[in-house]
Amino acid sequence: MEQYVIKGGNPLRGEVTIGGAKNAALAILAAAVMTDETVIVRNVPYVNDTIVLVDAIRDIGAIVENIDNHTLKINGSTISRLSVDYDYIKKIRASYYLLGALLGKYHKAEVAQPGGCDIGTRPIDLHIKGFHALGADVDTSYGLISASADSLEGAHIYLDKVSVGATINILLAATLADGKTVIDNAAKEPHVVDVANFLNSMGAEIRGAGTESIRVTGVKKLHGTDYSVIPDQIEAGTFMFAAAATGGDVLVKNVIPKHLEATTTKLLETGCQVIEYNDAVRVASNGHLKATQVTTLPYPGFPTDMQPQMTVVLGIADGLSTVTESIWENRFRYVDELKRMGADIRVESNVAIISGVNHYTGTRVQAPDLRAGAALVIAGLAADGITVVDDIYYIQRGYEAFSEKLRGLGAEIEKVSDEKAMRKFILKVG
Ligand code: UD1
Repeated sequence: MEQYVIKGGNPLRGEVTIGGAKNAALAILAAAVMTDETVIVRNVPYVNDTIVLVDAIRDIGAIVENIDNHTLKINGSTISRLSVDYDYIKKIRASYYLLGALLGKYHKAEVAQPGGCDIGTRPIDLHIKGFHALGADVDTSYGLISASADSLEGAHIYLDKVSVGATINILLAATLADGKTVIDNAAKEPHVVDVANFLNSMGAEIRGAGTESIRVTGVKKLHGTDYSVIPDQIEAGTFMFAAAATGGDVLVKNVIPKHLEATTTKLLETGCQVIEYNDAVRVASNGHLKATQVTTLPYPGFPTDMQPQMTVVLGIADGLSTVTESIWENRFRYVDELKRMGADIRVESNVAIISGVNHYTGTRVQAPDLRAGAALVIAGLAADGITVVDDIYYIQRGYEAFSEKLRGLGAEIEKVSDEKAMRKFILKVG
């Protein structure tokens, strides 16, 4: 089992380059099999989630060639199975995008039912509601979601709750349905827009992505394309918060600053300096952070996937902060670990009430999920002494070369796989 071992206390300084958006790439890779022509997808982050999804796509018979670590050539003409195994869904829920993609293309698809997960129960009722509205029969017995239709017909679909996954899954199927579909109360996240742009580059007719009403005119078929995934706003935000927590000065390159507005606003409230360039943001902190209030909301609100990283920053800010989680019901599990590092945080229902402390103290902690894992690394970078983060496979699901990028900013962090390597690192850093 690999771990990160960190000697905290170094302000991060320098430049870091952000990779492609994991959550956009997952949907785009699934959508790439919707044509029989060849599709090239660039700027795909080389992280465990995309690796597993590519395995799932290969497993149903599509051909995927790695041109390099970040560029994939996909051909869906050889698909021979319309069923995605539980093994993939279990490892990565987003495999369910193959349901919308295959249903749209072949009018039939089956994936194992995803379960709950580390951040809460994760219903898929809205995905199913959307497929139903398009005319599909959807059966959910025996732990499977089986969808089939003689033909898919455009429909007016209202999502009772803003859902990224349901918006994208319905969008995929509607792209190849007959006639017009309107998705109302759609998610507006940048990756929803990216998926729509990708589909449009394949010949789809989608308008309004990025607003709450997406309009799709179904097309008969899609063609090949060559497309580059947008930068990852969550990876970018994670480095921005790491700069803030360590009193550093970091230029975060290859980002779309507009996508980071909520993060930027909150960092300004904590007293950091944030400068926006065309495709970069610079975050500088003098080490004196101020308390503030944050509530997670669908885009353009503050992203739930940045909530743990924000909490870590506020944990060492002057005064009383609150962080309210409004998307997932179980996203404060890391707080107990952070308290073991000296944080003074009380969780009441979906609100974390944070009394800022002067500093964290290093200890051994466990990553409970992807973003919380990254947040604990940030706490370790800001802490006095040595922090060991266990279960870093969660972090590796979504951050490429995390420790390497942090080292490039002056962090003392090492990925180790045994006690001997850990002792060696500790000896080295004194
Ligand atoms: C995506 C992101 C995840 C992020 C989340 C919210 C991917 C792979 N994952 O997850 O990192 O935390 O968006 O920004 O892109 N809901 C329902 N019924 C449904 C679907 C969702 O009630 O059918 C609810 C959920 O319980 C949750 C809310 O809607 O409370 C938002 O979920 P959703 O946007 O669907 O999240 P995901 O797409 O799963």
